[in-house]
Amino acid sequence: MENLSVEFCGVKFQNPAVLASGILGVTASSLKNVVKNGAGGVTTKSIWLEEHGGHKNPTMFGTDHYFMNAVGLSDAGVKKALGETFPEYNKNKPAPIIASIVAGNLEDFGKLADEINKCEPDIIEVNISCPNIENECGKSFACSKTDASKVTEVVKKNSKKPVIIKLSPNVPDISEIAKACADKGADGFCAINTVGPGMAVDIDLKLPILSNKVGGVSGPGIKPVAVRCVYDVYKATGLPVIGTGGVITGKDMIEMMMVGARLVGMGTMVYYREAKGFGKVVKEVEDWCDKNRVKKIEDIIGIID
Ligand SMILES: Cc1cc2nc3c(=O)[nH]c(=O)nc-3n(C[C@H](O)[C@H](O)[C@H](O)COP(=O)(O)O)c2cc1C
Repeated sequence: MENLSVEFCGVKFQNPAVLASGILGVTASSLKNVVKNGAGGVTTKSIWLEEHGGHKNPTMFGTDHYFMNAVGLSDAGVKKALGETFPEYNKNKPAPIIASIVAGNLEDFGKLADEINKCEPDIIEVNISCPNIENECGKSFACSKTDASKVTEVVKKNSKKPVIIKLSPNVPDISEIAKACADKGADGFCAINTVGPGMAVDIDLKLPILSNKVGGVSGPGIKPVAVRCVYDVYKATGLPVIGTGGVITGKDMIEMMMVGARLVGMGTMVYYREAKGFGKVVKEVEDWCDKNRVKKIEDIIGIID
């Protein structure tokens, strides 16, 4: 085809398919392998300032309709990203890399932004879905426009790269949160993180399937929620959005772009189609564009009123 390349926050991506945070995003070699399989860009698993433990197994399971995880944001900390993951990835860098960062308080978000600059990512994605430990109810930053905007402000102040905020769908009005972040200088958004939490029971064992009992829901079942969120965020701010949530096929990707996504994130897709799914989705998009005489993929972004 024609032209599948997209510019996002001043960074050029060969195609709009991006690896979402948390899946295959821990080592440079697995990130590079995702690009080899057709992705236009990659996002790291969310990086903490210090090493962070996760939940006990079982932490994930999938069905035909949805996937659930309670991995618990385990990570080795920014030292590993700085000393290993980024230097190795950036050697013969095959595609842009987005560094996902996460913290439990504003001070750590600031320090982390400072450290992550040294990793030389192309873009910084701020995962605000974890609890704010300074909030007395342990509410997540993503659920309060004040908290979300404060995180945006502190990361922007300490960052030399474009900063995008990864929004949660689990709020009454996602546009309000997006606008508050945009007012503090967010360069764009990623929408959405997982839905829920959800819960599922093994009726034979008479036990919850996840050791954590509840977990974030992803995959095909959440796509309509993700599409609505991307639509709302793009309409409210006009800023570039990575549309993420339930994208499994080329048609899903086109749908996301029509409501305003500039890039499209895929995580759970790997469970259904493996890493080579990236290339397959891109080929499906290409075929759709050829059939519908779309010469430049950028022409379909946000065409839904
Ligand atoms: C196993 C697993 C781990 C995840 N870890 C992270 C993470 O570390 N940081 C983050 O921002 N999102 C994380 N997510 C959320 C995904 O990036 C994505 O927003 C969500 O799964 C919806 O997209 P999907 O349906 O394509 O998976 C994780 C999702 C899964 C399934």
